[in-house]
Amino acid sequence: MTAPLTTLDTLGRPMRDLRISVTDRCNFRCGYCMPKEVFGPDHAFLPRTDVLTFQEIERVVRAAVAVGVRKVRLTGGEPLVRRNLEELVAALSGIEGIDDLTLTTNASLLAGKAQALADAGLHRLTVSLDALDDETFMRMNDVGFPVARVLDGIAAAEVAGLGPIKINTVIRRGINEHAIDQLADHFRGSGHSIRFIEFMDVGHSNGWRLDDVVPAAEVVATINARWPLEPVDADYRGEVAQRYRYRDGAGEIGVITSVTQPFCGDCTRARLSADGSLYTCLFATAGHDLRDLLRSGVDETSLTDALRVIWTGRSDRYSELRTLDTVDLPKVEMSFIGG
Ligand code: GTP
Ligand code: 5AD
Ligand code: SF4
Ligand code: SF4
Repeated sequence: MTAPLTTLDTLGRPMRDLRISVTDRCNFRCGYCMPKEVFGPDHAFLPRTDVLTFQEIERVVRAAVAVGVRKVRLTGGEPLVRRNLEELVAALSGIEGIDDLTLTTNASLLAGKAQALADAGLHRLTVSLDALDDETFMRMNDVGFPVARVLDGIAAAEVAGLGPIKINTVIRRGINEHAIDQLADHFRGSGHSIRFIEFMDVGHSNGWRLDDVVPAAEVVATINARWPLEPVDADYRGEVAQRYRYRDGAGEIGVITSVTQPFCGDCTRARLSADGSLYTCLFATAGHDLRDLLRSGVDETSLTDALRVIWTGRSDRYSELRTLDTVDLPKVEMSFIGG
């Protein structure tokens, strides 16, 4: 049997990762993602009938695997606010061809869910945490959620065997820069790795300004001054984070440099919104609707063909082309298509 041809986009990039937003809702209101002024009590979230069912998501994943996807990440909004998420995890973990099945969560509901997720076959997870002191963390999540409960969630995930865990931290100038040292210190030697993310101009409601971005090089210099670091080679082509290890053997950190050093050249990521549109870039202004196709009774071959057509036409490299003008484009919100 001959191996199937790899589907490449117009820049020669294969589709390897599928990031699935299982809900557009979240119980946090992080200002860089779902600012309260925009996502207030009157905000119209997707009606339930517009959201893909678990069966529909599973069908898209099977088709995506046929096109080349090997890594699946469940996101949101906050994925754990979707009821019975472990049922979706169980369905996806049974699909042959997926090497990595993971989840990005704010961990607010993780303590009660970690074991069920592990039992369902989740491989690992990433937790978002922006500070270690309550005052700053509550200012970041804007709903008064305490740090201790996130740490409880991380502990529960460890017990459930979902470690080592990646911790994602967005640093904003003047708001949580002091969290760089504190978080690095907390997770040094824990086996978990923390990754500092440059504040990005995703969506069009977070009031992004270049002045609020703390460049990754500054984060690395700050940590290196206290605990000397050395660079680590990428694990795989297209790895988003640049990694460093502590010279004293206390583990690793990572930085995600979408603003200062874009990484579009190796971008193999597709995103599926909760309402079933496929987006070929985090900064896209429009997606490709799959829901109508799914609900029209299409067979798996036609679904796979549809994905191939979308991917073959892809030319996105937003971060490489970013200018002050592109920042104001009506881009889709990150809570809608997932981080
Ligand atoms: P691992 O496989 O665990 O290493 O995951 P990852 O490196 O893909 O990282 P993760 O999925 O946790 O993404 C971390 C953060 O990087 C996201 O929350 C985004 O902020 C950012 N990010 C991820 N993918 C992209 C991308 O395609 N483009 C841009 N600009 N940023 C991205
Ligand atoms: N810039 C950088 N990262 C962001 N995230 C959400 N919004 C932004 C932004 N504007 C990250 C969060 C979380 C993941 C879901 O996406 O930190 O880890
Ligand atoms: Fe929710 Fe995550 Fe967005 Fe914060 S970054 S509002 S936790 S989806
Ligand atoms: Fe990929 Fe778009 Fe991010 Fe570039 S900006 S790395 S093309 S998702």
